Amino acid sequence: MKYIAKNIALSESKDSIVVAIFENGTLSKNAQILDDLTDGAITKLVQSNEVKGIQGEILTLRHLPNYTAQRVFVVGCGKKSEITERQYKILMAKLIAEVKKTQTVELVNYLTEIEIKDRDLSWNIRFAIEMIEESLYRFDTCKSKKSDESAVLNSVIFDIEEKQQSQAEQAIKQAQSIALGVSLAKDVANLPPNICTPVYLAEQAKALAKKSPLIKTTIIGEKQMAELGMTSYLAVSQGSCHEAQMSIIEYRNHPNPNAKPIVLVGKGLTFDAGGISLKPGEGMDEMKYDMCGAASVYGVMNAIAELQLPLNIIGILAGCENLPDGNAYRPGDIITTMKGLTVEVLNTDAEGRLVLCDALTYVERFDPELVVDIATLTGACVVALGAHNSGLISSDETLAEDLLVASKETTDKAWRLPLSEEYQEQLKSNFADLANIGGRWGGAITAGAFLANFTDKYRWAHLDIAGTAWKQGAEKGATGRPVSLLTQFLINQAK
Ligand code: BES
Ligand code: MN
Ligand code: ZN
Repeated sequence: MKYIAKNIALSESKDSIVVAIFENGTLSKNAQILDDLTDGAITKLVQSNEVKGIQGEILTLRHLPNYTAQRVFVVGCGKKSEITERQYKILMAKLIAEVKKTQTVELVNYLTEIEIKDRDLSWNIRFAIEMIEESLYRFDTCKSKKSDESAVLNSVIFDIEEKQQSQAEQAIKQAQSIALGVSLAKDVANLPPNICTPVYLAEQAKALAKKSPLIKTTIIGEKQMAELGMTSYLAVSQGSCHEAQMSIIEYRNHPNPNAKPIVLVGKGLTFDAGGISLKPGEGMDEMKYDMCGAASVYGVMNAIAELQLPLNIIGILAGCENLPDGNAYRPGDIITTMKGLTVEVLNTDAEGRLVLCDALTYVERFDPELVVDIATLTGACVVALGAHNSGLISSDETLAEDLLVASKETTDKAWRLPLSEEYQEQLKSNFADLANIGGRWGGAITAGAFLANFTDKYRWAHLDIAGTAWKQGAEKGATGRPVSLLTQFLINQAK
C-alpha cells in the first residue's frame, strides 16, 4: 500500500474520499466544505435521518452533484473530540471493510482532522495505517486457491496542513515499518510446524542479513550448543528429529560501534507437544504458535532495519521443538544449564524456560545494555490477564516503566506482574538447584522467577505473550504482537 501525506483539496479527488460527521449530524470541517460544494447533499441526508453521525456508522455515497470524486464515505464519529483510540481503530477497520466492497483504488482520507482523545496527528496516521494493514492481511500460503477478494485499493492519501508535512511523513514511515514487521511475524507464526521448523526460522534470520547491510546473522546448531554447554536447551530438543538452531541477528548502527547492545531473546518452539508430559489433544495444533516470541523478534529486527534506528540491537531466535520420543528428556531428569545451575525437570512441558535460560546465559557475552525476552511461556498468564495484555515481569523499575510506556503509546498492551523473592521458594528442589515448575499458584510469575536466576549480569525484563500472540476460534491466527510495543520501545530508546 502506498501512503502519502499532503494538503489536498476536496475537489482534487477523482476516486474516493472519506469525511467525518459527528453526533446529531454535526459536520466536520471537510464534510461542511463538501456539503457546500454539493448543494447541501450531506445536510439533506442528515435531515432525512439517513445519517446520524453515531459512532461507527458508515454511508457510501456515489456521484454527488457537482462533485468529481466517484465515492464519498461518510463516517460517523460520535461526540466531537471524544473518540477514544479504540473506537477510532474499530471505525478504521469498518471503513476498510466498506472500501473493500468497492472499486476504490485511491482513497483520500480527511479523518486526519478528527481528534482522538490524548493523541496527536502522528497517532491518527499510525493507527489508521495499522488498521488498514491489519484489515488487508491474508494468510493463504497453504491454500490451493488464493483468496480473490484482494482489495484493489492501492493508495491512501492523508490530508494534512503544510506545516505538518514532516511529522506526518515520519508517522507514515514508522507505521509502515511496524506494519511490515507485524505482517512478517504473522506469516512465520501462521505457517504449520512441518514447514516452520527451527531450521526454517534460522533461514528467515539469515535472509534478514541479505536484505540489510546493517545486519549480520550467525546460526548456532546442536553441535555448537553442546560445545557451549547449553545442555538445558538441548535436553528440550532431544526428542525431536528437527535440529535445534539458535539465530543471532546482530544489527549495528549506533554512532558508537562499541555501544552496548540491546538484546531481544525470542522463545522459538516451532511446536510444543509437551514432551513426555504430553499436552491434551484438544487445541494442540495451536502450539505451532509457541514460536511467536521468536517471530516477534524477527519482525522487530526487520522494522528497526527499515527505520535504521541509531542503536546496536541483537535479536535471538531460540528455535527448538518439544516432542515425546524414545530419546526425549523425562520428568525426573536433572540437567546442568550453561550457567552451571542444575535443574530438576518435574514437567517436560515447562520447556520454554529451559531453552530460554541457556539463551539468556549465552547473551552475557554481548555485555548487553539490557535484555528483554519474549515468550509464549505460560497458560497461567492467559488465565491471569486474558488475551488483551501481555504479562510483564522485571525487577528493573526503569526498564519496566519504559516498556509500559511503549505499550500504552502503541496500545499493544502489557501489564506488570510482581516478582518478589518469595516466588523463588516455589522453585526449590530436593535434588537440584532449581525445579523447572513452581506448583499450582502464580504460574506466570514462577516461570519469570525461574528465568530471573539467569539474568544477574544485566538489566532484564520478560514479556509473557501466551495470551496475546495469537487469536483462537473462528479468527484463529497470529496477531504479530508485541512487534509494535517492542519497536516503539526501541524508537524511544534511540531518542
Ligand atoms: N507453550 C506453553 C505455554 C502456553 C500454554 C501458551 C497454553 C499458550 C497457551 C508452555 O511451554 C507450557 O506448556 N507451559 C506450561 C507450564 C506448566 C507445565 C508449569 C503451562 O502453562 O501449562
Ligand atoms: Mn510447554
Ligand atoms: Zn511451550
